[in-house]
Amino acid sequence: MTEGDLKPEYRPGLEGVPAAKSSISYVGIQTTESGNKEGVLEYRSIPIQSLAASSNFVETAFLLIWGRLPTQTELTNFSTEIYSHRRIKYRIKDMMKCFPETGHPMDALQASAAALGLFYSRHALPNQDYARQAVIRLLAKIPTMVAAFQLMRKGNDAVLPRDDLDYAANFLYMLTEKEPDPIVAKVMDVCLILHAEHTMNASTFSARVTASTLADPYTVIASAVGTLAGPLHGGANEEVILMLKQIGTVANVRPYVEQCLESDPKYKFMGFGHRVYKGVKDPRAMILQDLAEQLFQKFGYDPYYDVALELERVLEEYLGPRGIYPNVDYYSGLVYRKMGIPADLFTPVFAIARVAGWLAHWNEQLEANRIYRPTQIYTGEHQQPYMAIGDRE
Ligand code: ACO
Repeated sequence: MTEGDLKPEYRPGLEGVPAAKSSISYVGIQTTESGNKEGVLEYRSIPIQSLAASSNFVETAFLLIWGRLPTQTELTNFSTEIYSHRRIKYRIKDMMKCFPETGHPMDALQASAAALGLFYSRHALPNQDYARQAVIRLLAKIPTMVAAFQLMRKGNDAVLPRDDLDYAANFLYMLTEKEPDPIVAKVMDVCLILHAEHTMNASTFSARVTASTLADPYTVIASAVGTLAGPLHGGANEEVILMLKQIGTVANVRPYVEQCLESDPKYKFMGFGHRVYKGVKDPRAMILQDLAEQLFQKFGYDPYYDVALELERVLEEYLGPRGIYPNVDYYSGLVYRKMGIPADLFTPVFAIARVAGWLAHWNEQLEANRIYRPTQIYTGEHQQPYMAIGDRE
């Protein structure tokens, strides 16, 4: 049999094609008692709203990766182990110092995540100890590497993690060199929960494909970081802020939208649209909008928020009838902006959180592994003659 013998239906973007069986998370749309439709997101069958209200990122990572909520002792041990592995080797820092300061932090993160694998055994089949060590190291060190690049590109030295600060607070401390306000740290923790997992999206698929080759988990994460970076995926949060900046004022929203659609009727507005949440607003966008408002109440308003609200209103007229609504990336940038995080770090912050989901998928992929090797529909010719270079036009 050749690939030509297979005549499967081609679905661009693999829309609707199951790529794995998974019990890690669920996304869907449900009808409420009042007859409205709403988006659903569950991690290990627990609604995202409950986790955002009551869990913390480290507990959520445990839940995603090991499939159940930890006991108090398990959570304490897991947190302590992660906190004690937050430092990165001086050789990784030296390598990062050589990165151009004008380079994008996602590229720095992808290179640093891959470099971590240089220090630990490769191609090991994940017995329990190996898997646990890799999980701890990646969850612990990825935020340190994001923060280190931010300080180094400003010409400063990376700061050491603080053992007395939890996951989110320590990340913000390493990033800004200041202990964060507890409300800001709490909001960051909720943001990490919201971004930790989202079924078979592009970067998770990428992680699973890499995992299926039995590549080591550092390579799996580096693959996934590269895939998350694109503006149609995790990179959209940075693009949203650039768009709001370009629009500038509430009065300019409608002219901006009309101008974009006039130049290209299929113009893609960043932070809108989703393969699964068709006809509903992403449930994470709603929680993020609440978090943004909490920060504005405490630390002052952001004029971009009014622009964002007006843009959502205007785009509902144009895109709502086609089922296109704000996704997770629409309001996250406003939250991070209020925390003083530069726009090009929004996607690395997303990556810090998504490491939990990627690791859960790495683990699950290896439980019943078969290397990914899909097919294609060949559209070329056959048996063409080789033409000598001098005969080509
Ligand atoms: N603005 C305007 N039109 C849109 C948008 C948008 N943001 N998103 C989708 N559409 C339109 C498309 O033009 C297409 O129209 P058509 O049927 O007339 O051809 C239709 O809606 C379907 O869109 P697709 O791009 O085919 O939808 P798909 O499921 O392939 O893509 C995606 C989903 C990539 C998220 C898309 O909506 C998009 O590009 N959005 C902007 C980028 C973005 O915000 N990405 C973040 C997604 S969330 C995440 O990855 C974390």
